[in-house]
Amino acid sequence: MLRYIIRNEVKTSIIFKCICDIINNTLLMLLLKGLGGRSNMEFKNIILEKDGNVALLTINRPKAMNALNSETLKEIDMAIDNIAEDENVYAVILTGAGKAFVAGADITEMKDLNTVEGRKFGVLGNKVFRKLEKLDKPVIAAVNGFALGGGCELSLSCDIRIASSKAKFGQPEVGLGITPGFGGTQRLARVVGVGMAKQLIYTAQIINAEEALRIGLVNKVVEPDKLLEEVKNLANTIAANAPVAVRLCKAAINQGIQCDIDTAVAYEAEVFGECFATEDQKEGMTAFVEKRDKTFKNK
Ligand code: CAA
Repeated sequence: MLRYIIRNEVKTSIIFKCICDIINNTLLMLLLKGLGGRSNMEFKNIILEKDGNVALLTINRPKAMNALNSETLKEIDMAIDNIAEDENVYAVILTGAGKAFVAGADITEMKDLNTVEGRKFGVLGNKVFRKLEKLDKPVIAAVNGFALGGGCELSLSCDIRIASSKAKFGQPEVGLGITPGFGGTQRLARVVGVGMAKQLIYTAQIINAEEALRIGLVNKVVEPDKLLEEVKNLANTIAANAPVAVRLCKAAINQGIQCDIDTAVAYEAEVFGECFATEDQKEGMTAFVEKRDKTFKNK
């Protein structure tokens, strides 16, 4: 009898645990989806906030100069998914907490990696940065401080870079015995030209914000205390335009830059045509003709 009761209790507790697990998993999935994308998710190494149509993603490991370890990369990956699913986010700002934007990939984590592990870490970083680059919303890097190695590469995965006058940029990897691993050998050359990219990468030289502006690595340099205000204004200016059109512009520029001009302009014609299937094109042009303010719906 006692055995029967115990067995039944065990069964009940297993069933109870299963139900709890299902509820927990469902809650976690809802959390990851951001309950429709609007809730602020809880992370350990990053902060994701939303204000109106703009998301602000802050890398938040100031004690380690926001160095990117695997955990932080995975959190960034989840945040990108959340932002991608939130149809009310039209523009994204990426910045760092404290005196660094991001001082690179985490050297402590990388120090003892073997070839296979090193490749895996590089693949993870590249996967996340490529996802950010392909995110169908414009991303502005507000570079508040050190943007070195993986940090410079993270900024290069954004559409626009605005720097504080205190920012410092560089690819110091060869000084550590490695190559840039999160896209630096590819994107830096595309942004500042092959010769300048090779010079920066081969010398591991750290440059200041003014030099970054001179070589076209950043679009603008502003005083540190004005950086977020400046970037938020820029994000809101972008967000006030038709979101679908901005998204298609990003896709056209990113695709077109990688192929020959005939293919590129054919792609542009495609996306141009697509605009005429949107409500926002009707709204934008009707508002112009009727000389009234426009209200875009991201449709
Ligand atoms: N990884 C791990 N920890 C880092 C780090 C990094 N990339 N950058 C800084 N930190 C840690 C420091 O070890 C230190 O930790 P402790 O307090 O526990 O000692 C803390 O952050 C503060 O750093 P510092 O004391 O060095 O601060 P500083 O103001 O004197 O110097 C700095 C700042 C110039 C950014 C300096 O920290 C530095 O040179 N960091 C390394 C930059 C670098 O080489 N980045 C490239 C990494 S490799 C890479 O990114 C590969 C890739 O492409 C994927």
